[in-house]
Amino acid sequence: MQKIGVIPGDGIGPEVIAEARKVLDAAVEKRSLTIEYEEFPLGAGHYLKTGEILSDETLQRLSKKDALLLGAMGDPRVKPGVLEKGVLLRLRFHFDQYVNLRPVKLLDGIPCPLAGDHRKIDMQFIRENTEDFYVGLGGRVKKGLSRTTLELKRRAFEAKFDVGIELEDEPELAFQIGVITKQGTKRVMEYAFQMAKQKDIDLVTCVDKANVLTDAYGMWREIADEISKKYSVNMEFQYVDAVALHMVRTPERFKMIVAPNLFGDILTDLGAAIQGGLGFAPSGNINPSGVSMFEPVHGSAPDIAGKGLANPVGAILSAALMLDSLGEHGAASDIEKAVQQVLRAGKHKTHDIGGKTPTSKVGDAIAAALKNG
Ligand code: NAI
Ligand code: MG
Repeated sequence: MQKIGVIPGDGIGPEVIAEARKVLDAAVEKRSLTIEYEEFPLGAGHYLKTGEILSDETLQRLSKKDALLLGAMGDPRVKPGVLEKGVLLRLRFHFDQYVNLRPVKLLDGIPCPLAGDHRKIDMQFIRENTEDFYVGLGGRVKKGLSRTTLELKRRAFEAKFDVGIELEDEPELAFQIGVITKQGTKRVMEYAFQMAKQKDIDLVTCVDKANVLTDAYGMWREIADEISKKYSVNMEFQYVDAVALHMVRTPERFKMIVAPNLFGDILTDLGAAIQGGLGFAPSGNINPSGVSMFEPVHGSAPDIAGKGLANPVGAILSAALMLDSLGEHGAASDIEKAVQQVLRAGKHKTHDIGGKTPTSKVGDAIAAALKNG
């Protein structure tokens, strides 16, 4: 039995999660799986009512789950960042979800915004999720002499940076430290190459900017090279600017892209765009030996919440990704096929792709296709 913690969240989160649950139920029934759900009412409603963002007790309960399925966080009634950082980022850090997995695939019947024929877009995008320029180390100093100690505390290690700055002839300076660690890089590379092996992916593209940011990405490269040899999977290095160009011109050439946190953040949004839009993009925040969390890439979209306009496909594919990571590959593939079948038929399209079908009817159609497939 799999125990799933469900966090519908804010805005369109609950609407798209309801559809993912419908489709999950159909998949579970078809494959005679047993899944037990528990809902966690985190988000703006809960916060405004109780003042609580995410309690230690809730974290404790979530840690007993096999996986988490999340809708979206963020609400105009709450200061930006409070819920996004307080819930999303806290969960990612607490469960050390160091892989951000974002499959980028152009689905049947969905137009690609790029000129030319790009039907074959199908890549696994793996973004390192805990290091790089996202470790939160930085500062601002005024002219003169200053000294601060910045600390990076992780489960596996601790680092202290003694930063002394003598600033002359300039009123203010801001800086941000990017951190790449050997263990941190190794584990995300291991994950990537293992997946490449398992999925018969014959080329892994490793992204960096090692020609300019030589120290951090020089080490990133060294480790990638080492791990690729261990798995004997072909690997190429490409600078991030070149990857951006190729993703627009010949995206089908990529099978798997592994990127450090910052470049991965930017390129994966480009990925969502070339696969037809935010509404279709699924993602997983993964700790292969811990609790992973699956969520559509889009946010809470307050502009369309409560109107039946939300595209539930990203959330539904996130549920499939969750099943796949739990080892239920058959059920995951059932969901993907049902989604493809409904989109190919073209009768049930949400408003974001020029259709008129309400959110819940798209979920109904996908669940029905799965049952009858
Ligand atoms: P957003 O992704 O919520 O919306 C961007 C645009 O795409 C909007 O016009 C929206 O209507 C449209 N859109 C998004 N998902 C859609 C779907 N499934 N179907 C149809 N249209 C869809 O990003 P935005 O507007 O920048 O942020 C809104 C809130 O969401 C903010 O509070 C933000 O912080 C939060 N956010 C949360 C994320 C998460 O929970 N992982 C990720 C991104 C933003
Ligand atoms: Mg982003």
